[in-house]
Amino acid sequence: MIYKNYINGAWSEKISAGGFKETFDNVNPADTTKVIGQFQNSCEFCIDDAVESASEAFKTWKNVPAPKRAEILFKAAEILVRDKECIAKGMTLEMGKILAETRGDVQEAIDIAYYAAGAGRRLTGETVPSELENKWSMSVRLPYGVIGMITPWNFPIAIPAWKAFPAIVAGNTVVLKPAEDTPWSVIKLAEVFHEAGLPKGVFNVVTGFGPTAGMPLVKHPKVKVISFTGSSATGHLIAKECSKLGKKYSLELGGKNSITVTKNADLDLAVEGVIFGAFGTTGQRCTACSRVIIDKKVKKEFTEKLVARTESLKIGDGLEDDIDVGPLINEKALDKVERYVTSALASGDDLLTGGHRIKMNSGWFYAPTIFTDITPDNALAQEEIFGPVVAIIEYETFDEMMNIVNGTRYGLSAAIYTKDINESFKFMRDVETGLAYVNTSCIGAEVGQNFGGIKDTSPISSREAGSQMFDAVTYVKNMVVDFSGKLQKAQIE
Ligand code: NAI
Ligand code: MG
Repeated sequence: MIYKNYINGAWSEKISAGGFKETFDNVNPADTTKVIGQFQNSCEFCIDDAVESASEAFKTWKNVPAPKRAEILFKAAEILVRDKECIAKGMTLEMGKILAETRGDVQEAIDIAYYAAGAGRRLTGETVPSELENKWSMSVRLPYGVIGMITPWNFPIAIPAWKAFPAIVAGNTVVLKPAEDTPWSVIKLAEVFHEAGLPKGVFNVVTGFGPTAGMPLVKHPKVKVISFTGSSATGHLIAKECSKLGKKYSLELGGKNSITVTKNADLDLAVEGVIFGAFGTTGQRCTACSRVIIDKKVKKEFTEKLVARTESLKIGDGLEDDIDVGPLINEKALDKVERYVTSALASGDDLLTGGHRIKMNSGWFYAPTIFTDITPDNALAQEEIFGPVVAIIEYETFDEMMNIVNGTRYGLSAAIYTKDINESFKFMRDVETGLAYVNTSCIGAEVGQNFGGIKDTSPISSREAGSQMFDAVTYVKNMVVDFSGKLQKAQIE
């Protein structure tokens, strides 16, 4: 089946200058002989069309009252609820994570849809007293116009929804370029908006690759804000381009997240937290646990439990029952994991389990992998591998542990397992991340809670899915009315 771009409320194909239709294949990572469909390999002309339609739509959409805009989003939420199972199954086929996780992905889209729609009646500003008589000042949040969104493949509908729903309820219009590995899920989102009755041009989807479809969106003069989630390398490229153009941007990049296990932790609970954090979504979450930082006194006992639990995980096609870990997203990702493991073994690092590909149905599978006695400066402890690979690092004192936790360029998420309340508060205060967890895994984003990082994860500390979700997509306008009938001067002696 050939899937088309969604532009100006209609489905359109990319036709090249030579009259050819250009598409690319989307395959199932659990069985690469299965093709999900062909998608438009779009270029800047498609982006131009989409941005023009969004720009035109903005003229009327911005003046639709926010509670009325929200009514359409409530309808979209109901359609997502109705179609949840179908979208989840298609998503597992498209990108591999297990059905329980793709259901969760759609649920996140549903939750943000209700949350953002509810906020349509709460887009509050503030009034501030003037120092002068008979003068009022008030502020409102206003939309920018066309927002360009570029999204990754690991949360194929949740991340586009986190970005699109707040932007749309605030009165912006959207052009979204989904990851080339997961265009299907975002085409589904366009179908949902279409059925909900969103006016044409408010939400547009253009599929294709980063340099040829993503970058023209970043550079387009009518695109006022770029909202990006993906790798740090691409994020820096986009930030540079936006700075050159004086364009606002929000970024959510990589992570090198950790779980600390202290000597007084509930070790069984901590094992479950690490398993979920490290091997859920096959280690391909920006919040994935790739470092376990463990008190030397409990290292042996904890490690034995962790390895046994890891070796009990079932790897396979995420659509099948009882599968715990699906495939990696593509061959490039599999090669990357293999490269890190090979290089670690070559330098004598201590492998406890995994460390090899799994041959099954020509899928991109890799065994859950654990290395131990890793030093904090090792590549396994510093670089984002984005696969099912964990480095165990030991510590002796609390201060040493905090230095290890904070000793990476990233700052997204960190967790601690402890029964010591003082230790837990010290940890939450001093950890250099946007997300801190106590006695639960380092993954666990919920709609309603601000999500994002600091340091190289989010150099401008953008936040999504919580009360700050409007910061990236609205600006504050301060408005002053002087009803004194004379020229009053503020702050002039
Ligand atoms: P990527 O950064 O290349 O892709 C993310 C999005 O950016 C995709 O839509 C892609 O088409 C687009 N893109 C790529 N190059 C671009 C360019 N020059 N201009 C404009 N847009 C561009 O990430 P990729 O290759 O999919 O994944 C590789 C690495 O990214 C992973 O190993 C991981 O480290 C990181 N990543 C982080 C995620 C997160 O949740 N923070 C999500 C996905 C990937
Ligand atoms: Mg795919």
